[in-house]
Order: sequence, then C-alpha cells, then structure tokens
Amino acid sequence: MEHLHFLLLVFTIFQTRLYLGMSKMGCLEGARADKEALLSFKFQVTVPQNALSGWTRNSSHCTWYGVSCSSKGSRVQSLHLSWLGLGGTLGPQLSNFTFLHTLNLSHNLFHGQIQLEFSRLQLLQQIDLKNNFINGTIPAILSTCHNLETLRLEENRFSGKLPPELGSLQKLKTLSVSINNLTGSIPRTFGNLSSLTSLNLARNQSLAEIPSELGCLRNLQYFQLSGNHLTGEIPSSVYNVSSLFFLSVTQNNLGGKLPNDIVQAPPNLRQLYLAQNSFEGIVPGSISNASGIEYLDLSMNRFHGPVPLFGNMKKLIWLNLGSNFLSSTTALNFQLIDYLTSFANLSSNLQHFCIANNLLTGSFPQGFDKFHNLISLSIEQNAFTGEIPKNIAKLKKLQSFSVFQNMLSGEIPDIFGNLTQPSDDQMDNNKLSGKIPNSLGFCQQIETLNLTSNRLNGSIPNEIFRVSSLTNLNLSHNKLWGPLPSEVGNLKQLQVVDVSDNQLSGNLAASIGGCVTLQLLNLSKNNISGGIPGSVGKLTSLEVLDLSFNKFSGPIPRDLENLQYLKKLNLSFNHLEGEVPKGKVFLNLSLTSVQGNNGLCSGDQEIARYLELPQCKTRAIKRYHLLKILVSAAGVTLFLCLIFCFLWALRPGKKKNKVDKDGEPSPSLKGLLPMISYSDIRLATSNFAAENLIGKGGFGSVYKGSFITSDNGANTSNITLAVKALDLQQSKALQSFFAECETLRNIRHRNLMKIITSCFSIDHKGDQFKALLMEFMPSGNLDRWLYPEDMESGLSLSSLQRLNIAIDVASAMEYLHNDCEPPIVHCDLKPANVLLDENMAAHVGDFGLARFLPQHPSQEESSTIGVKGSIGYIAPEYGLGGKSSTSGDVYSFGIPLLEMFIAKRPTDGMFKEGLSLNQFESAVDSDQAFEIADPRLFKDF
Ligand SMILES: *[C@@H]1O[C@H](CO)[C@@H](O)[C@H](O)[C@H]1NC(C)=O
Ligand SMILES: *[C@@H]1O[C@H](CO)[C@@H](O)[C@H](O)[C@H]1NC(C)=O
Ligand SMILES: *[C@@H]1O[C@H](CO)[C@@H](O)[C@H](O)[C@H]1NC(C)=O
Ligand SMILES: *[C@@H]1O[C@H](CO)[C@@H](O)[C@H](O)[C@H]1NC(C)=O
Ligand SMILES: *[C@@H]1O[C@H](CO)[C@@H](O)[C@H](O)[C@H]1NC(C)=O
Repeated sequence: MEHLHFLLLVFTIFQTRLYLGMSKMGCLEGARADKEALLSFKFQVTVPQNALSGWTRNSSHCTWYGVSCSSKGSRVQSLHLSWLGLGGTLGPQLSNFTFLHTLNLSHNLFHGQIQLEFSRLQLLQQIDLKNNFINGTIPAILSTCHNLETLRLEENRFSGKLPPELGSLQKLKTLSVSINNLTGSIPRTFGNLSSLTSLNLARNQSLAEIPSELGCLRNLQYFQLSGNHLTGEIPSSVYNVSSLFFLSVTQNNLGGKLPNDIVQAPPNLRQLYLAQNSFEGIVPGSISNASGIEYLDLSMNRFHGPVPLFGNMKKLIWLNLGSNFLSSTTALNFQLIDYLTSFANLSSNLQHFCIANNLLTGSFPQGFDKFHNLISLSIEQNAFTGEIPKNIAKLKKLQSFSVFQNMLSGEIPDIFGNLTQPSDDQMDNNKLSGKIPNSLGFCQQIETLNLTSNRLNGSIPNEIFRVSSLTNLNLSHNKLWGPLPSEVGNLKQLQVVDVSDNQLSGNLAASIGGCVTLQLLNLSKNNISGGIPGSVGKLTSLEVLDLSFNKFSGPIPRDLENLQYLKKLNLSFNHLEGEVPKGKVFLNLSLTSVQGNNGLCSGDQEIARYLELPQCKTRAIKRYHLLKILVSAAGVTLFLCLIFCFLWALRPGKKKNKVDKDGEPSPSLKGLLPMISYSDIRLATSNFAAENLIGKGGFGSVYKGSFITSDNGANTSNITLAVKALDLQQSKALQSFFAECETLRNIRHRNLMKIITSCFSIDHKGDQFKALLMEFMPSGNLDRWLYPEDMESGLSLSSLQRLNIAIDVASAMEYLHNDCEPPIVHCDLKPANVLLDENMAAHVGDFGLARFLPQHPSQEESSTIGVKGSIGYIAPEYGLGGKSSTSGDVYSFGIPLLEMFIAKRPTDGMFKEGLSLNQFESAVDSDQAFEIADPRLFKDF
C-alpha cells in the first residue's frame, strides 16, 4: 500500500508538472503570437509622430504603451490607444487577440469598414471606437460577443440599419451609436437588453416609432433619441421605466399628449427634454409632482392651456416653456391661475427661466429677486404689462435679460449697475419710457443692448459709451434727442449702432471713425445736420451705412470710397450737394440710394446713370464767377482797348484801317458771354507757348489756357479752358468763326462743346485776333485715342467706353437734327472733332462748317462754302454737289462709328483701290468680325 501511495503521489506530481509545462508552452506561444499581432497591427496602421515608437521587438509587449496583459501568460487583454491620430482600417489582424477584454481605439482616424472577426473575440467586454471615420454597417456578428458590456460607436459614419441581433447581448449596459448615419427603425429586440442602462441613438436618420418594448428596459437610466425622424408618440411604457434619469427626444416629429400622470412613474427623473416636437394638449399639472426634475425643456411644441403651477419643483435649475401657446388662464377662462406667483416658489437654484413666445398676460412675474443664481431670464414675446421690477437688479449673475416684444411700460429700472457677467439686454418693442439709465456706464459687461421700439426719451447717456464690452447697440425707434455723443468713438469693438428713427440732432462727430469694427451704422430718420465726417471712411468693416432722412449737408466725402465691404449705402433725403465720389464702391453696391438730395451730381457717366443723377456741371459755378469777372473786366478791357487803339491810331506811319471794324460784338455774337481780352489769353496760354498747343485744325490752332478767376477778389482759382485762335490769314476762317459762334449761341447740349466766351480783339502786332474760349477736354479727342502716335502708349478704350462715346455722339446729332429750330447740320463729324472729358464722355466740337438747314425747301442754303467736310467722312452725295443734309451727317457718323471698333482710318492705305471703309465693312463676313476688329478690344479677354 505504501508503495502504491508513493507511486500515486509520484504520478500525480509528474502529471501536474507535465500539465503545467504544457500549459506554459501554450502560453508562451500565445504571447508570442500576440506580440507578432501587435507588431503587425503597428505595421498596418498609420502612426504619426512615433506614437508607438516604444513598440519594439526587444521589449516585452506587455510594457508597450496602451497594452495591458493578463497576469498569467502575457496575453493581451486590453488595447487602449485613443487620441493618437492612428489611421488605416480595422483589419482582421486584430481578431488574433483572443484574450482581449477591452478595445479602445476612440478619437483616431480609422476609416473604412470594420473587418474584425468578432466571433474569435469571445472575451470582449468593452468596445470603444468613438470618433473615427468608420463606415459601412454595424456588424451583426457583434452579437456573438456575449460578454459585451459597452459598445460605443458614436461619431463615425456608420450607415444602414441597427442589427436586431444586438438584442441578444444580455450583458450590454451601454450602447451608443449617436452621430452616425443610421437609418431604419429601432429594433424591437432592444427591449431584451435587460442590463442596458444607457441607450444613445441621437442624431441619426432613424425613422418610425419608438418601440414600446423599450419600456421593458428596467435598468435604463439614460435614454437619448434626439435629432432623428421619429414619429408617433412616446410609448407610455417608457414613462414607466422607473430607473429613468435622463430622457431626451428633442428634434423629432413626435406628437400626441403627455400622459396625465407623466413623470410620476420615474421617481429618479432629473432631466426631461421634449423640445422641438409637435407635442400638444395641456401640460399636465401632475408634472409639478415630479419634484426631482432639475432640467425641463418643453419648448417649441404646441402645448396650450395654462402654465402649470410649478410650486413643487424644488430642484428646478433649468425651465424652458418657450414657443408654445401657453396662456395665463384656462381655455374656458374658468379659473385664473396664479402662475405668476407660483414661479416664485421655484428653487433658488434656478439658472435659466424661459416662458418666452407664449400667450401670457399679466404683470411681470413676481419674486425673481430670490433667484440669485439666475443666468438668463426670458419672458419676451408675450403680452406682459406693467413695469420691470426694480429688484431684478439683485440678480448679479444675470447674463441675458430678455423682455422684448411685450407691453411693458414705465422707466427702465437701474438694473445695470450690478451686472457683473457679460450680458445681452433685450428690451426692445415695449412701451418703456423715460430716460436710459446712466447706471449703464457702470456695467462693464453688456454686449448687446437692444432698446429699439420703445418710448424712451431724453438724450443718449455718454455713459453707454464707457461700456467697453458693448458690441451691439440698438436704440432705434424711440424719442431720443440731442446728439449722438462723440464718446461713441471710444468703443473700438462696436459692431452695430442703430439709433435710427429718433429725434437726434447736432452733428455726427468725426470721432465715429474710432469704431473701427463697426459693421452697421444706421442714423436714419433723425435731424442730424452738418457734414458727413470724412472719418466715416475709416470704418473699413462697414457693410451698412444709412444716413437717410437727416439734414446732412455738404459733399459726400471721398473717403467713403475706402468702404470696400459696403453692401448698402443710403444717403437719401438729406441736403447733400456736389459731386458723388467716383469710386467704384458706389457702383458695386447692391443697394445704393442718394435720391432726395437736390444738390448731388456725378462726374462719372456710369455712376450718374446708375444713381439716376444729373451729370455734374462742375464748371457752372466757376463759370458764374468767371462771368462776374468778365462783366467787370469787359468794361476795363474795352476802355484799355480803346486807349490802345487810340494810341495805335496815333502811331506815325500806321494805316488807320488797322482799326478793327468789328470792334463791337457783331450781331451774330449777341447772347454769347462778354468777351475776354487778347492779353488775358496771351497770359493764360503763356504767350501761345508750344506746350499749350493742343490741336491744329483747318481754321486755326487750339491752345490750353489757364485763366485766373476770383470771386469779388477774395478767392482766386484757376480754370482751364481751350482757346481756339483763328488763323485769319485763311479766308474761310472768319466765316467759320461766325458759323461757329452763331451755331453755338443757339444750342445747349451735354454732348456738345460749350463755348464759354469769345475774344474779338487786336493782337500785339495790331492784327485782328479772334478766338473762341471753350471747355477744356482733358482727355483730348477721339482720334488721339483710336490712333495713338505711339501704339505702345497703352492708350485704349474699353468696349463699353467706345459704346458710350458712340451713344454720346449720336445723342448730340439727334439734338442738332431734331431738337434745334432750324435744324443744324454739323458737316464735319470725325474722330478729331469728338472731344472727351475727364470721364470719357464725348462732346462734339468744331462747328466751323455747321450750317442751318433752310426751313422751307425753297430757300437756298445761305452759305456757299465749298468744303463740306473732311476727306473720308463726306457723304458721297456732297461730292456730287448735293446740299448739306442731316443724312450727310448720318453718313459721316457711321464712319467714326466703324472706326471706333476697327481702328482703321477711312484714309487707310488698305482702302485704296476704291474699297471704302463702309464697303469693306459690309464685305466682311460676320464670322470674321474678330479679324477686323480692333485687337485692343480683346486685350482683357
Ligand atoms: C493571426 O492568426 C492566424 C492564425 O490563427 C495567422 O495565420 C495570422 O498570421 C495571424 N495574423 C497576424 C497578423 O498575426
Ligand atoms: C467607406 O469609406 C471608404 C473610404 O474610407 C470608401 O472608399 C468606401 O466607399 C466607404 N464605404 C461606404 C459603404 O460608404
Ligand atoms: C449621411 O448620408 C447622406 C446620404 O444618405 C449623406 O449625404 C451624408 O453626407 C451622410 N452623413 C455622414 C455624416 O456621413
Ligand atoms: C448693487 O450692489 C450693492 C451691493 O453689492 C447694493 O448695495 C446696491 O443696492 C446694488 N444696486 C442695485 C441697483 O441693486
Ligand atoms: C434688436 O431688436 C430688433 C427687433 O426685435 C431686431 O430686429 C434687431 O436685430 C435687434 N438688434 C440687436 C443688435 O440685437
């Protein structure tokens, strides 16, 4: 027996040793395999910044970052690799960690579909893949991981349906798939997840109804279904889940009534969010028995009827009943419920209180002074009356005070002084009266102050502009008077200033330029006078500038051109005058208005057209001054002239007939302005210096002259005019001079050259001197633009400019032919006679050949001047001795019109062999238009 015992013992020991040895060998193999699997995982994923640099072959994998092993056998039990920026797909290699309990790869960049063989991961308890880019469907095979307690797949890109198979996971406590793209309904099998405490399906595309089976989840505490497309009602079984602590179904399409005994069943309910659905009916009074509720949001539904008495909700921190149809009394007006005082029974923990946008009446709810922790108070958009209680001032943590769109009256209490938190104060659209309290200035935290549409009067307190936190100030639609305090410029962070529709007066202080971040400035409908300060141009962030319906005067400052972000500009109905600045900013605006300012004009044709303004007659005023000088100078000149002539006549050896017979203005010059003297012209043109010569025509030379004008000798200014001095050696010149004088005496048109005055005098040599003084056209004539002497000079007209010039010339012709009585024929229309002002508007000049058409066909033409135009532009019939006619002008007009778009002179060499320009043009196929057109036209394409 002894031996037998001994043998047995030996055998047992041997067997145990053998077993241990064998299992140790198995462990070693498994551990080695895990190490290989880890290395291969590291190899397959993208790993930034050596996040896994410690994972090296020569160290034990159990010491690697994020890896923990079983105490026996060094098998990987837990992989915890969140927030490492790992990328790649979750491939099958992970399935080799058969001892894995915990897999946490959350907050990485994994993408693609899950390819794990979950059937091999029988020990898995925790899966956390939160916040990656994993897509595809949620694998149903997860249901084979019977030990799973936590499954977190939220914030990925899973699509498809939730697999019903997951309902078999008896140990599952947390299931979160929120913020994915899951569709379909919630599987009824989820009612079998008997261990579930947290179910989060928020923000998917889940449709259909909430299965009543979920009411079987006896351990459920956190139930989050918000932001889906759920319909139907909340099954009453769900309200009966007594473990429920948090229930949110906001932003769905759920409807129906709340059960009468709602929230009596879940005694643990702390947070109930039903907002943004279509729940209807009354809010059951029983809700106030849910005394544990801290957060209650029923906003944006269709609840109606009276606000329940909340007296028992002693723990309420957050209450939102906004945007329903709640009223102060029952629908039958049967019993007036004293809900206003019931609020005062709420817990002093209350932080957020909102009953906005309902049908509530009565006075401002009482007792709010006890809520020392109140952060936001919203009763806006109701019909509350009476005054704002002064004791609101005790709420030192208040950040949002919103009472707008009620019928509150009385003065604004001094509630601002003690506000210590950043706050928005919106009291607009009430009947508040009196002054804006000065104590505002002590509240350094207000960001938005909206008092629009009240009955406030008094001046705007300077103190407002000490509130360095203020960004939005809206005081519009009140009865405030006095100036906008210049202190406004202190507030660099102001973004909105709207004081429109008040009775403000005084000037707009230049300091406004200090509000460098201002985006909206609305001063409209006040009585503000004086000039618009140029410093407004410093408000470079400005998008809306409305100064309409005030008494602003003077010019629009050029600085407004700097406002490159401006979208709306309204300067209408003021007393502004002068030229609208030319900046393109005035054209790019979608909404610009300058109407109702009688003195405004524009020097830029495009802007003038756009703003429907007249073209500036910038010289009108100067001309008036010039006129005054001329009138006074004329007498002196005449006197000097006479003395000069007298002395001249007395000069020995000089013939008397040098005295100008036409010393008096000829009858044909009557109506023109008084003449200017020869010496004035000589001075103005620096003695006809070559550098002032701007053109030489058939009948004389044109000089640029700078005349000094003064108004009553006080201010002197320079005016530049063109002086057309006639070459009287040419016999035709005199006739031409008279033709031009006579013609221009009768006509006024913005596209015709204006004659300022004439000079009819004797030059220093005693010879006759005749000159016409005309507007100076700084851009020269069209000829110079079409055929620049230096082709590389870059002189080029855009197609729009060319078109505008053509229109200008045509309107001048139209006027001459149809609106003059008798009609006038220009007879010499050519690019050289089309002059361009600084805005490239065309003015037709040189009426030296112009003549009046006989009013009766029987009357012969008065003039017999042989030349009827310039070569290349003369209508063919003139060459055959035809009479001047409007048709001749039309022909002539056609030639420059063509030239403008092909830039070839009618006298160009290529037109020799009888191919005249117009024939050439009609010979060209329309397809070839690009070949003949002026290449400069396409420069910008
Ligand atoms: C996973 O294990 C299988 C055998 O079970 C083996 O063939 C495969 O190579 C392993 N994969 C990795 C990445 O270690
Ligand atoms: C998943 O994402 C990958 C890119 O990461 C893409 O190629 C694939 O088409 C997506 N699959 C699905 C089902 O969306
Ligand atoms: C969800 O799917 C829709 C199409 O079904 C797609 O337009 C949308 O981008 C997806 N959203 C996400 C977060 O993948
Ligand atoms: C502001 O607070 C002080 C004490 O903190 C208090 O004496 C004063 O009355 C308060 N002001 C208002 C307007 O309530
Ligand atoms: C002030 O209230 C009016 C009317 O309710 C609103 O249109 C405006 O945007 C508000 N202004 C600011 C600055 O909040």
